[in-house]
Amino acid sequence: MSKKFYIKTYGCQMNVYDSERMSDVMDGEGYSATDNPDDADMVILNTCHIREKAAEKVYSDIGRLRQIREKRTKDGKETYLAVAGCVAQAEGAEMMRRAPTIDMVLGPQTYHRLPAMMKESKTQRASTGKSRVLDTDFPVEAKFDHLPKDMRGKGPAAFLTVQEGCDKFCTFCVVPYTRGTEFSRPLGDLMDEAKRMADAGIIEVTLLGQNVNAYHGDNGKGGIVSLSDLIHHVAEIAGIERIRYTTSHPRDMDADLLAAHRDVAKLMPYLHLPIQSGSNAILDAMNRKHSAERYMELVVELRAARPDIALSSDFIVGFPGESDADFEATMELVRQVQYAQAYSFKYSPRPGTPASVMETQVDESVKAARLAELQAELNKQQSAFNAASVGQKMAVLLERRGKFEHQLVGRSPFLQAVYVDVKDKLDESAHTPYTGLMGKLVDVEIISGGPNSLQGKVA
Ligand code: SAH
Ligand code: SF4
Ligand code: F3S
Repeated sequence: MSKKFYIKTYGCQMNVYDSERMSDVMDGEGYSATDNPDDADMVILNTCHIREKAAEKVYSDIGRLRQIREKRTKDGKETYLAVAGCVAQAEGAEMMRRAPTIDMVLGPQTYHRLPAMMKESKTQRASTGKSRVLDTDFPVEAKFDHLPKDMRGKGPAAFLTVQEGCDKFCTFCVVPYTRGTEFSRPLGDLMDEAKRMADAGIIEVTLLGQNVNAYHGDNGKGGIVSLSDLIHHVAEIAGIERIRYTTSHPRDMDADLLAAHRDVAKLMPYLHLPIQSGSNAILDAMNRKHSAERYMELVVELRAARPDIALSSDFIVGFPGESDADFEATMELVRQVQYAQAYSFKYSPRPGTPASVMETQVDESVKAARLAELQAELNKQQSAFNAASVGQKMAVLLERRGKFEHQLVGRSPFLQAVYVDVKDKLDESAHTPYTGLMGKLVDVEIISGGPNSLQGKVA
């Protein structure tokens, strides 16, 4: 019987992508995936450092894994534990001290070295009874050059990491420290990967980067391509019907990218454009380097380019020094924009970041009250957006089965989850019913909308 591995992913889509690549590496080592940690010979935790809660969760999970390992040891089974991702990068050595259960610590840039680390870990255990392998380098060789690239069986929508890292140093954020400086993958590599995706039946590609619209890749001819150029190139690949990109920074929304929203039909009418705060004083203190007015201009320009575009954002409440008036400016901006969807967080002081040592920290109770007020407004807007979809016909990419029989689930152009009743589309001749629809773009009539999803039937 082949050995098994279990991966748990915390945090952003960069980590989701990295977990998929680590799964590929483990496949290559002859391991098969399991979603039960009790069965796993190798456990990988792909961690996130962005807020305190996310980071602390890892330690409680490690505690649970220690018990699993003790039980497995009694049954004569070995278990290896690797901690990967941004907590590993930020405090790997300290983690190893705090949690002796950990065998391996690897940062986001060293996943291709996993097989070598596993070997080293086994050797150490054989000779000393424990293993302490740590690799959180930022190696010069790019991890992307070393990863196996098998796209089959991954569903009709996939991420493609085009850019990593960040040089922007927002004063609240750990990403520049955990992911390192900005790195854009060359155009040729990305086109190869996107074509392989198309060959594997992938229909929707999300171009991924911590700062994706800062993308500036080598075109292989001594020139540089921007994100808008890349979107135009990917749009030419037959089979790729939908393109998205995330996450973008308002500072890097240039005229060409705005024009791409007008000119490239395959570019979906949805944009996640974080602003964090509607107050210029707070935006300054965050080092965002743009004003609320500039953001509102972008919103107007985006809607001129693509009138049906749905907007999403991130907000932080209770950043150091945030007054009632600053918070009210955020509320006012939100009311003006009318978002389709958004994420909002209480400010969480992170070790090593400038904002964490500012003296004007905001009380937890004030943060909680502001978050509740903001989320009430954002939820209202999201429900209104979903309600406005009722009666429309839209193309839905069906990605998976729903909870109920006769139900498939997919995404609308505006990234809404759509539950589609396919009862009368049952394909009696097929081995598995609905195989004709799964993984396809299907015209769906929206029948009803709730706060978080839509229901529809095949049109
Ligand atoms: N590169 C993206 C954001 C990546 S982090 C951008 O610049 O928009 C994802 C989100 O987490 C951020 O947009 C921010 O809203 C939130 N976040 C980051 N650091 C945080 C902190 N210290 N406390 C609370 N929220 C934080
Ligand atoms: Fe963090 Fe700012 Fe970089 Fe986004 S742009 S990853 S918030 S430092
Ligand atoms: Fe978290 Fe690292 Fe992503 S800190 S949000 S997993 S880049």
